[in-house]
Amino acid sequence: MSAPNNPYDPVGVSALEPAAVQAAVEAALAAIEAAASLDELKEVRLAHAGDRSPLALANREIGALPPAAKADAGKRVGEARAAVRAALDARLAQLEADRDARVLIEESVDVTMAAPRREAGARHPLTTLMERMCEVFIAMGYEVAEGPEAEAEWMNFDALNVPPNHPARTMQDTFFVGSEGSGVVLRTHTSPIQLRAMLSRELPVYVVAPGRVFRTDELDATHTPVFHQIEGLAIDEGITMADLKGTLEHLASAMFGEGVRIRLRPSYFPFTEPSAELDLECFVCRGTSVGNPDSPCRTCSSEGWIEWGGCGMVNPRVLQAAGIDTDRYSGFAFGMGVERTLMFRHGVTDMRDMVEGDVRFTRAFGLEV
Ligand code: DAH
Repeated sequence: MSAPNNPYDPVGVSALEPAAVQAAVEAALAAIEAAASLDELKEVRLAHAGDRSPLALANREIGALPPAAKADAGKRVGEARAAVRAALDARLAQLEADRDARVLIEESVDVTMAAPRREAGARHPLTTLMERMCEVFIAMGYEVAEGPEAEAEWMNFDALNVPPNHPARTMQDTFFVGSEGSGVVLRTHTSPIQLRAMLSRELPVYVVAPGRVFRTDELDATHTPVFHQIEGLAIDEGITMADLKGTLEHLASAMFGEGVRIRLRPSYFPFTEPSAELDLECFVCRGTSVGNPDSPCRTCSSEGWIEWGGCGMVNPRVLQAAGIDTDRYSGFAFGMGVERTLMFRHGVTDMRDMVEGDVRFTRAFGLEV
């Protein structure tokens, strides 16, 4: 018979000694308490509750104990591990709550904070004025026509009856694209669009053509090398100078107010016959400064009138260049500077303000769309 088994003494297994278990729990609780972040707590969990932690290793020893000792050791280690787990869970909950509170503060959005201002732009007054002028004509049944800015010299000059030796053609006025004989210029006026409109449309023709034009002028208060014109052309049966004048009067009152007077002053343009200079009654003094040295007018130099554009009955040679039967059809044409119109209409005294692109100038005209 074998000797009775010595009762297994768990105290003999050092890891299961109550003091060791107690020490492991205390070490775990201290580490858990000291964990200042979720990351630190993760490491603490691994060290004190992971598979290789002292308490897990102690737990493994239990299996080898005799049945009589198992319950007691099992209870002790089980309680120890439960205490550590509970402390870990409590600390985890606390650290998570801390983090959530911190995130709420750190990542909060102050919806009442002033947003950075979006600067509002404004369309250029020349653009809106040109559209407005076009609309006056659209309301009378005109169409808007266009042409290229780099134009055939023939269209810009020859077809408009401007002779080859005309001074306007020389390098002094005209930007040539390429060499002087290249045959392509930057259009010096919108009048070539007259030709293009006649060649591309059925008669009768009623068109307005706004556009940019170019001349070799220096930029100063009253000149700019790039400016804008608006051209008008009406070709129909029985068109007379009276139609021209009535149309221009209508434009003038639409631009400057009812009752403003215009005047046609005999002049010369190669592409019209007869031709006239279009003058506008001075909108500042309305003619009261004429012969009245006591109240001179700076706007019209006390002449009572200011020059606005040119006009006339389309020269039959121009109509013929477009293949139009001049026995049946006649027409009128006119052209005026948009910059000048803006100066008159809004009291802009320096053209440079219009080309410099300073938004403070543009904005003064408001957010017209
Ligand atoms: N094209 C001329 C210029 O730039 C203005 C002009 C005069 C246009 C008479 C016309 C016109 O249509 O008939 O000075």
